[in-house]
Amino acid sequence: MGANGTIEEMNAKFGIAGIARVTAGNGGLPKVAVTAGGCAGEVYLLGATVTSWKPRGQDEVVFVSGATKWENGRAIRGGVPICFPWFGNKAGDPKAPAHGFVRAKPWALDRIAQNGGAVTVSLSTGSDEGTKKLWPAEFRLIQRVTFGAELTMELEMTNSGPAPLGFEEALHTYFHAGDVTQVRVHGLDGIHYLDKTDGNREKVQQGDVTIAKETDSVYLDTSSDVEVRDPVLRRRIRVSKQNSLVTVVWNPWIEKAKAMSDLGDEEWKQFVCVETCNVGKHAVTLASGEQHRMKAVIQLAQV
Ligand code: BG6
Repeated sequence: MGANGTIEEMNAKFGIAGIARVTAGNGGLPKVAVTAGGCAGEVYLLGATVTSWKPRGQDEVVFVSGATKWENGRAIRGGVPICFPWFGNKAGDPKAPAHGFVRAKPWALDRIAQNGGAVTVSLSTGSDEGTKKLWPAEFRLIQRVTFGAELTMELEMTNSGPAPLGFEEALHTYFHAGDVTQVRVHGLDGIHYLDKTDGNREKVQQGDVTIAKETDSVYLDTSSDVEVRDPVLRRRIRVSKQNSLVTVVWNPWIEKAKAMSDLGDEEWKQFVCVETCNVGKHAVTLASGEQHRMKAVIQLAQV
């Protein structure tokens, strides 16, 4: 069962013959598989997590760990989990789930629509008795994923409660890399960042970001495009964003990868996370009834 019926019921209601179907993915979890718009792609209802995007004739762009547990209640290790309403640990409550609670629960599938040549899958979640125990707020969150020659993800948050609401958010995007130690993340030169591997010290990026150790950097006040330049896979992945002022670059490196039960010991070499976010001093506050949309557009170019 998904959040809104069995897989068969959801496929009968939302599937589009030859273009999009709701089917059982890993662990029997429901996912939407799309083949249209010059690409193939997948999004799981668990966390509304995109797990695949392959423009026609190209290799997989998104990384997913082979050690993912594939069960409701646990985030998928890879793809594009959504961090909300806090990023990392909840302030003042280290026992609360890291990166919030929406990445580990099944979302409702609301709609699958053809959109030009592309296909948009809309999923939603919101407050209930369980979320109110962790975060006393009323909200509705929609994730709109458009699979096409580009991959677009738009996260829409509505404050449906009576009081102003502050929150953090991230599209925690894992990109597949040929060899992460050879990747250059371009577009952050001169940007101030907090180095989470060095007690959150503020530093200034010099040139491209390279991965030569554990990397956990929160780039502030930046809305610029970022390019993941991968000489091994001979491609560039471009991330453009709207309504996001923070970009996080993360790779766990050797020791942390070994300590993670849902990541293979060697898998750190195969990905870099470039995350479209609003966190820390760029957390968002919405008045009652207000909406906020954060968007990431992913493009691929061969070089
Ligand atoms: C990154 C954080 O976004 O996610 C890191 O900046 C964190 O600090 C990483 O380690 C992975 O988090 P998790 O909860 O998925 O293991």
